Amino acid sequence: MTAPAAIVIFGATGDLARRMLFPALYFLEADGLLPRDLRIVGAARSPLRDSDFVAEVERAVRERTDEALDDAVWARFAARLRYCGGDAGAPETYGCLAGLLAGAVERIFYLSTSPALYGLIVRGLAGANLADEASRIIVEKPIGRDRASCDAINTELAAHFHENRIFRIDHYLGKEAVQNLIALRFANTLFEPLWDKVAIDHVQISVAETVGVEGRWSYYDEYGAMRDMVQNHILQLLCLVAMEPPANLDPESVRNEKVKVLRSLRPITGADIAKKTVRGQYARGVADGASVPGYAEEAGGAPSNTETFVALCAHVDNWRWAGVPFYLRTGKRLPERSSEIIIQFRAVPHSIFGANELKANRLTIRLQPEEEISLQLMNKTPTLAQGGFDLKPLSLNLSLHDAFSRQRRRIAYERLLLEALQNNSTLFVRRDESEAAWAWVDGIVEGWERQGGKPAPYAAGTWGPAGAFALAERNGHSWGDG
Ligand code: BG6
Repeated sequence: MTAPAAIVIFGATGDLARRMLFPALYFLEADGLLPRDLRIVGAARSPLRDSDFVAEVERAVRERTDEALDDAVWARFAARLRYCGGDAGAPETYGCLAGLLAGAVERIFYLSTSPALYGLIVRGLAGANLADEASRIIVEKPIGRDRASCDAINTELAAHFHENRIFRIDHYLGKEAVQNLIALRFANTLFEPLWDKVAIDHVQISVAETVGVEGRWSYYDEYGAMRDMVQNHILQLLCLVAMEPPANLDPESVRNEKVKVLRSLRPITGADIAKKTVRGQYARGVADGASVPGYAEEAGGAPSNTETFVALCAHVDNWRWAGVPFYLRTGKRLPERSSEIIIQFRAVPHSIFGANELKANRLTIRLQPEEEISLQLMNKTPTLAQGGFDLKPLSLNLSLHDAFSRQRRRIAYERLLLEALQNNSTLFVRRDESEAAWAWVDGIVEGWERQGGKPAPYAAGTWGPAGAFALAERNGHSWGDG
């Protein structure tokens, strides 16, 4: 395949395009990574002249960087930009696009719009002969609200685009620290022999946010933490932790291994809903030192059963992970922004150190806010303590930020756009992955519906409802921050 000659961004005046997509494309330009003749076409409903569009993109890029734009880079980038205004359902929109894309043999269409428009857009593209073998589409989450609606969207896409030309984004897969997880596991010999039920006691995957729903109430209220974070980001992290070593980094090799993990997730049903799941909703409290309203208050007090916090105890039922709990947790308005994976190794089988408390080894992979890896080990303190040994847990710490301090921190979308331009779908979610993830999530959501009740309230600025602590403590475990 030759380099794509055009990328079209539907939803070009929207929030994601402004905050992420155009800045990411600009940074790729600055690094000389965009194909030489690539045209970048914005498509959205508002009628805009090309010059107004260019000015909007410039504002968006400036907002995203602390440094002044490089004039030469900006001039090169601006020269690529075109705009096509029109309704997603109107054939004229596609006529306009076809005109702008004339001669551009390979094209990418990025659907940064509501998924409700996906079907309309792919049909419009097909009607203008823009959905041929030389076109790819990139789609954003949420792909559905459950397995059935995900299937319906995928079927609409598949009517005009073959699966290997559909790139489903999960922006966590574009994060440097998430890719480093693959390197940590498969570019080192150290961990792999220990990466199983024999050596590992349990795993924790936690994505904590301090923000609330940030003006996205009407979207969020329909989805909640389970569909907004667990179905995609958290399960993708779980896949990377739990998957078998793929034969290589080819898209199908990696995604085959991930989908096996998703299909091995033990359904959580019946009495396990109460024992292995916790949902919460933030109430008034404190965030970053300021008093903040509760979730329901943010929407003018409308009662809502939507969860803003989820904690789960999951199991991957296969030979490697039999009996190892995977604790998954995510929430909004928690005390700090931090995403981390904890691999908790088993305790020594027998201690020869008398009264010393031996902490089991723990590997912590911190993804956000800083990328760090630390390995907690027991060490002797340099004292002449009685019996000769006074032990203390200390950590080997690797800060990726310090190791690569001269590197600019990249937006996840830079990596993802580059991979899509290079037609490499390893970091994108395949249809069967998204459907398997939904199937597992649906079981839990249905369990909650059957159970009735409401998410447990937790004060903003705390680590979620008490039940989340009990969930881990029931197995003699505690969360990393506990
Ligand atoms: C998005 C969710 O997919 O991920 C948001 O819709 C969430 O609700 C965001 O805040 C978190 O992403 P990040 O990169 O800030 O961890």
